[in-house]
Amino acid sequence: MKPLRLAVVGFGRVGQVCAELIVLSHDLSLAAIVRRPASAGGKLPEMLRSIPVTTHIGQAKDVDAALLCVPTHAVVEIAGQILQHGIPIIDCVTLHGEALHSHKQAIHKAALHHRVPAIVGAGWDPGALSVFRSWFALLTPGGATETRHHSGLSLRHTTMAQSVRGVKDALCAEVRGPDGRVQRYVYVELEKQADADRVAQAIRADPLFLGEDTQVFPVESLAELEEEGRGVVLDRRGPPGRLGHQHLLLEARCDDTLLTGQVMLAAARALPELEPGAYVLPGIPLGAMWGERAEKAQRDWL
Ligand SMILES: NC(=O)c1ccc[n+]([C@@H]2O[C@H](COP(=O)([O-])OP(=O)(O)OC[C@H]3O[C@@H](n4cnc5c(N)ncnc54)[C@H](OP(=O)(O)O)[C@@H]3O)[C@@H](O)[C@H]2O)c1
Repeated sequence: MKPLRLAVVGFGRVGQVCAELIVLSHDLSLAAIVRRPASAGGKLPEMLRSIPVTTHIGQAKDVDAALLCVPTHAVVEIAGQILQHGIPIIDCVTLHGEALHSHKQAIHKAALHHRVPAIVGAGWDPGALSVFRSWFALLTPGGATETRHHSGLSLRHTTMAQSVRGVKDALCAEVRGPDGRVQRYVYVELEKQADADRVAQAIRADPLFLGEDTQVFPVESLAELEEEGRGVVLDRRGPPGRLGHQHLLLEARCDDTLLTGQVMLAAARALPELEPGAYVLPGIPLGAMWGERAEKAQRDWL
């Protein structure tokens, strides 16, 4: 089967993840990266250097679909311009409930007019998590759902590591290995000239960590690490009564950006099976999102 040729529009966090996932995939190809004129000259990561960068979708060749990775407020206008070229779009706007419904209606009109499919809100949340929420509700009618966001790893500041020479800031987490033993992960943001090995030795030698399995990881930015480590608990309780107490829990410790990229690619694989108009993720057949691996997925996951 000919690989779907995708354009990534907007090269921020989600855009970069999408571009890299497409290049790493076996069934999709990256036709172009579309950027605003002010950013088009910016340097791309090594693996994307051969990809054409344009400032307008019309300049990109043979595009089967566009992944819109621009701020939510800019999506409707950019989607309109791309649909005009007869190119299907996928967005991952951060809108929920009525706001997402109105957004879908607006895109639906344009998609019908230009006779192409569009998938909106195709990220982690909204997106994959909406599908889980919907299933939880189907399984326990009349119940109640609570969504709690939390930090994926329980990270706390460590004064000891912060006081080591060369350390700008440090965070520590306790992780239980498969054998039940506790390991300590110490993440350090270093001063420019600091020697990472010396810092690691000094931290491990401190009485607080001595005798513990302590791993020290230098990172570019602790703020980004805290962001990446976010997680969510979806907690659904069926109604009390004759049918017993059903309690469904989903806990995810994940990087929203990476999962959003995966969902956008999965949604793109479903496009060839969709009629013109706009869809949200729960409205798309799951099998279609596996693309050419649909049959295998059915055998593996049923
Ligand atoms: N559903 C989910 O779970 C989920 C999760 C994460 C993010 N999102 C959504 O994904 C989208 C992208 O998020 P992100 O974290 O990648 O944002 P980001 O890092 O700020 O990147 C957005 C990119 O869009 C371009 N851009 C910025 N302002 C623009 C404007 N006014 N008009 C057109 N393009 C503009 C820029 O790329 P260039 O410089 O290359 O032009 C920018 O790097 C947002 O809509 C966000 O809400 C959804």
